[in-house]
Amino acid sequence: MSAPTRLPPGPRPALLNTLGLVERPVQALNKWRRRYGNVFSAPMLVFGMGVYVAEPESIREMFTGDQSDLRAGEANEPLSPMLGDRSVLILDGPEHMRQRKLLLPPFGGANVAAFREVIREAAELEVASWRNGERIIVRERMRALTFEVIVRAVFGVTERERIDRLRDALVAVIDTQIAFIVPQALRRELGGRGPWGAFQARKRIADELIYEEIARRRDAADLDERDDVLSLLLRARDEDGRAMTDAELRDELVTMLLAGHETTATGLAFAFDLLPRDPAVLGRLRDELGSGDDSYLDAVVTETLRLRPVIDAAERTLTEPRTIAGWHLPAGIRVYPAIALVHWREDLYPEPQRFRPERFLDDGAESYTWLPFGGGIRRCIGAALAQAEMAEVIRTVVGSVDLELERPAREPVVMRGITMVPRYGTPAVVRRRPVRAGTAGEAASATA
Ligand code: HEM
Repeated sequence: MSAPTRLPPGPRPALLNTLGLVERPVQALNKWRRRYGNVFSAPMLVFGMGVYVAEPESIREMFTGDQSDLRAGEANEPLSPMLGDRSVLILDGPEHMRQRKLLLPPFGGANVAAFREVIREAAELEVASWRNGERIIVRERMRALTFEVIVRAVFGVTERERIDRLRDALVAVIDTQIAFIVPQALRRELGGRGPWGAFQARKRIADELIYEEIARRRDAADLDERDDVLSLLLRARDEDGRAMTDAELRDELVTMLLAGHETTATGLAFAFDLLPRDPAVLGRLRDELGSGDDSYLDAVVTETLRLRPVIDAAERTLTEPRTIAGWHLPAGIRVYPAIALVHWREDLYPEPQRFRPERFLDDGAESYTWLPFGGGIRRCIGAALAQAEMAEVIRTVVGSVDLELERPAREPVVMRGITMVPRYGTPAVVRRRPVRAGTAGEAASATA
């Protein structure tokens, strides 16, 4: 007979937990950890019983050891109408590994260096469009910018008119996500009326454009020289020598767009909620950029993602009973490798709520105590791209403007979908900085 299963103690009931997590995730998570320790159970509405694990060693075991009884794709299943059923986010087991192995190489070091060029161009255009004295919602501007970067670097589309067409069609699909709360039985097209019908109609338009881009790229004379992700995927072969099908390519392109643009935009919005409030950090950043050294810039990115990790926890469904962090847990529950709680442990990061990039200058980040991109066999495929993007955008913005934040204190953090975001999107007034020789542009090209 197998050993009896047990749940660690934790907060109840599900309704209060869910409200706490959605409206005040930083306070709720910290309160639960203070009260119950690094491993606790917390039932949630819709998702049922879950166990948060804020122990780096146990998280490492979950991310790198045997995962046959830890399903990640299942937790993402609600996104399948948008992503398609061949998406790396939805698949588990060998099918997941096949897609993942195809997707990883285009995001390697040499390519990310080429993406920096694309990012800088897009960032400079975006920041140049801000007028002196204009009020902007930083997260919205960053969303437009990160979208542009994905369409250029991942889809490889560079013609203005095509970018705009794709953007309009894809944003329309993303904005009808509300359709996902329509229960399965009511998912009828109704001639394009109702939320489900509208979603399907918009998706067809976007898919047509994506398939058109795939076909054009297949035929492109310069396909072999191109380094955008779609072109690399078209040239990729799996272990059996098979190429990706158009349907697989479509699903992975939409997945990368969805997984990669709002997350990065939110990370940037948090960076700009933190930086201007800390003149010493901002001053040092500008000094070091002026002298052509990027280490402090990288530390600013690392510390932003530690303090404001965007994704509070990874999510796995247990298909069999399994012992995690000393608890023999029952099948059917969710386990949350608690990214944010590890980042906020005072024994790992003294004064955890302080924004202090210096903490990463000497030691760098240890892999299972710094987890904004998860880890192991489901680690974020776009991690290097996202970090390069955050660094280049921060470089461009702090080199050209001062952002006068509207709110007197750090933005409250709320949960929207599966991400933690600044509640008000970081409203700020733009103050252009006088152009000085040796600032952003020159420093940027010196380090390219
Ligand atoms: C700051 C920005 C980003 C954050 C915080 C972030 C975070 C994450 C996290 C935590 C995971 C792991 C989830 C898990 O273990 O279940 C993940 C997976 C993933 N991310 Fe990101 N991500 C970011 C940007 C991007 C970008 C730019 C792309 C692509 C262009 C991307 C594509 C993906 C994909 C495809 C996966 C699934 C990997 C798999 O299941 O094997 N992400 N991301």
